[in-house]
Amino acid sequence: MKNKLFESLVIAGVLIYSGLSGPDSAFGQSAMINVSARHCTSLDGEWQIIIDPTGAGDWRKVWQERKPEKKTDFIEYSFEGGPALNVPGDFNTQLQELKYYEGTIWYKKTFNYIPTGNKRLFLHFGAVNYMASVYLNGNIIGSHEGGFTPFQFEIGNLVKPGINTIIVRVNNQRLKDGVPGLGYDWFNYGGITRDVNLIVSDRLFISDYFIQLKKHSFNEVLGWVRLNGNSLSQNVRIKIPELNLDYKTRSDVSGLAEIKFSSDFKLWTPENPKLYKVIIQSETDTVIDTIGFRSIEVKGPKILLNGKPVFLKGINIHEENPLRAARAYSESDALLLLKWVKETGCNMIRLAHYPHNENMIKSAEKLGIMVWDEIPVYQQIEFSAPGVTDKMDLMMREMVNRDKNRCGVIVWSLSNETNSSPSRDKALINITDNCRYLDSTRIITSVINDEHYSNNILNVWDTLYRHLDLISLNEYLGWYVPWQGQPGDIKWNLAIKDKPIVITEFGGEALYGNNSGPKDEASSWSEEYQEQIYKDQIVMFGTMNNLCGVFPWLLADYRSSGRMHPVYQKGWNRKGLISEHGEKKKAWYILKAYYDTIKNTY
Ligand code: GCU
Repeated sequence: MKNKLFESLVIAGVLIYSGLSGPDSAFGQSAMINVSARHCTSLDGEWQIIIDPTGAGDWRKVWQERKPEKKTDFIEYSFEGGPALNVPGDFNTQLQELKYYEGTIWYKKTFNYIPTGNKRLFLHFGAVNYMASVYLNGNIIGSHEGGFTPFQFEIGNLVKPGINTIIVRVNNQRLKDGVPGLGYDWFNYGGITRDVNLIVSDRLFISDYFIQLKKHSFNEVLGWVRLNGNSLSQNVRIKIPELNLDYKTRSDVSGLAEIKFSSDFKLWTPENPKLYKVIIQSETDTVIDTIGFRSIEVKGPKILLNGKPVFLKGINIHEENPLRAARAYSESDALLLLKWVKETGCNMIRLAHYPHNENMIKSAEKLGIMVWDEIPVYQQIEFSAPGVTDKMDLMMREMVNRDKNRCGVIVWSLSNETNSSPSRDKALINITDNCRYLDSTRIITSVINDEHYSNNILNVWDTLYRHLDLISLNEYLGWYVPWQGQPGDIKWNLAIKDKPIVITEFGGEALYGNNSGPKDEASSWSEEYQEQIYKDQIVMFGTMNNLCGVFPWLLADYRSSGRMHPVYQKGWNRKGLISEHGEKKKAWYILKAYYDTIKNTY
């Protein structure tokens, strides 16, 4: 009987790679992974734009770029003569008039195409927030919904020799049936926020692969390689030169090749984040990736990293460079945030509340920082509205598809702070099962905050807990929820006692440098008040038996338009341990000292 995992991965391979060929697919094709290792032409840089606050561009059909023909003709739009925006990057921080803009922006880019004979051509977007409709030479080629995951379209049979024109309709309006929905506590940065590439491939190419350790194993890889194109049965090889490994197999008629080999890997750890050069080869294509190998699992109330109990010294981060007060996207943005993460003594980041750009994921992995990957099923979601669960599922598949070979990613998180209801329970149980089907090698969870606190007792229960590998709890004792007794006296009533628990959010607000006003009053926004929250929380952590990790909310102050206090907030959520200017608040030192007392594994 074939290994269940392999079968699920095989199906995963099919499910993940559900690429519908050609331009007629509603969601494009499952995006290629490891794009930088492909034959790319970057379309980053200046794109011309049309700002379209009333949606007039839709009925004017701006993608047709009509020009006056007769002397009496006139056209009331044009890219030429208009402004330009840099891609990648949010549009809100590039033009003053777009600072709070939520609406449509039309982007235009041309490229020169020289026919390359028997090759295929793809147009790949790292992410567009929130809705994208893509036109090539005046014709729609597809659309994508979701602001934080990649998508692509095959365009080889649509381009023409010479100059071709891409126009993208980007709309970042928040939607009641969106994912996330209408309300969320981060800035709604719109635009083509990540890289755009043209990718050339052979007629038959390596479209996808999954190469990670089999669950519970420290030395056996179980995965697959998927070829795309015709005559799909080909010899496939996996080479890891450093291990003198040269694994040979053959893809079946569907283009799928099972990968199953063992080796004496140096396992990836936070102390030694070992990555190997892995060469994936078919008869007509070669892709090189750097892949680490580690085991992550839950066992009773423990999380095991390579078989040893691990304590997750986490921190939450949003995808924002606070120094630029803009959406983060670059490697330098990632390295700035990760420098602060390392300085704080953390071994893990929770990428709140959506998949961040790949620079962050790959940089964290290289630095030995474990990653919590999450889709933006956030608070108020219309679970019973038509299409919403499909959107959630697609985002989960796009996240898993993109990051499945990143050993630094150890948690797939499928929601944050949604309240139990029949439609929510059904939707989240479903997506949890689907996620486990795609990848059972990682920890799967959802973040809950519906604990009940009374008489200094925390009652923790949610319908989802039976379906999750990890109990992930947000609590703001000392900030949103005043203590009802001494933190050291708190009692925990966990309905589920045989699973690990992590505190995925705690903390409070403080304006850096604000030491005026009463230190014991929340409304002073003083550093001392925030500092005391951290001291009390750390005392409380000592009362929890199966606590396997904590994630303060959060590393740095970040923009959120709902934070409106004109003196202390000014559109910033001030729960950062570091200010938007990179200044460490008093609470930072409390956390640092706490983390310095804890080993990674024990
Ligand atoms: C919530 C939520 C965060 C939010 C935070 C806060 O728990 O998960 O996204 O920013 O609390 O209120 O600051």
